[in-house]
Amino acid sequence: MKEPRIIVALDFSSAEQALNLAAQLDPKLCRLKVGKELFTVAGPNLVKQLAREGFDVFLDLKFHDIPSTVSKACKAAVDIGVWMMNVHALGGKKMLFAAREAVPPGTAKLIAVTLLTSMNQDDLNDVGLQGDPKQIVMRLADLTQNCGLDGVVCSALEAGSLRQKLNPGFNLVTPGIRLEENSLDDQKRVSSPSTAIKNGADYLVIGRPITQAQYPLQVVQQLNQLIPM
Ligand code: C5P
Repeated sequence: MKEPRIIVALDFSSAEQALNLAAQLDPKLCRLKVGKELFTVAGPNLVKQLAREGFDVFLDLKFHDIPSTVSKACKAAVDIGVWMMNVHALGGKKMLFAAREAVPPGTAKLIAVTLLTSMNQDDLNDVGLQGDPKQIVMRLADLTQNCGLDGVVCSALEAGSLRQKLNPGFNLVTPGIRLEENSLDDQKRVSSPSTAIKNGADYLVIGRPITQAQYPLQVVQQLNQLIPM
């Protein structure tokens, strides 16, 4: 794959901080992720500006609503020029189909979150979901693929078993990546970049190891040397 596989999570509380980091990075070497906090404070103008600067933007808003509402939100994301966006697979088949229809293949990548990694067995029981987290992740990834979406977000530790069962072109996007020298921050189950790629990940979402570094571009370059582009 001759394209950046690192997606830098811009987990900032202002457009200024996000643009300041973007100015230190290179769109040929990484992509950027805008999540709920940053989008809520900075909105579509920031996304458009990052795109104007040449960055591919993953809009991580995890849409989950009735099909027509999700469809319109996805269409709006296409219109502001995002490269990738996501929805919750738990929204179900009709919602996933509606999202796909709003994001025709080739316009932007459309992926789904299966189960939030913050949910354990007790949480599943609380909401009445049957099965263990692994089974549910697999079922939701399968549903996502059958509805024609482009991939799922998953932990690098789950990537191996998903890769075996899903189509080769189905994208696995994995957060929770750390280099050995990094602090874990609040992540519990982490993988190194090379393990994630070996397990079949296509894109790695990496936040604090890059955003909090003294020289962010150097960290991106170092990471790119560990994974084949
Ligand atoms: O700073 P760090 O590398 O931990 O950031 C990881 C990014 O990936 C954050 O934006 C976080 O919200 C996101 N993420 C995650 N775990 C998931 C899904 C998303 O860490 N299961």
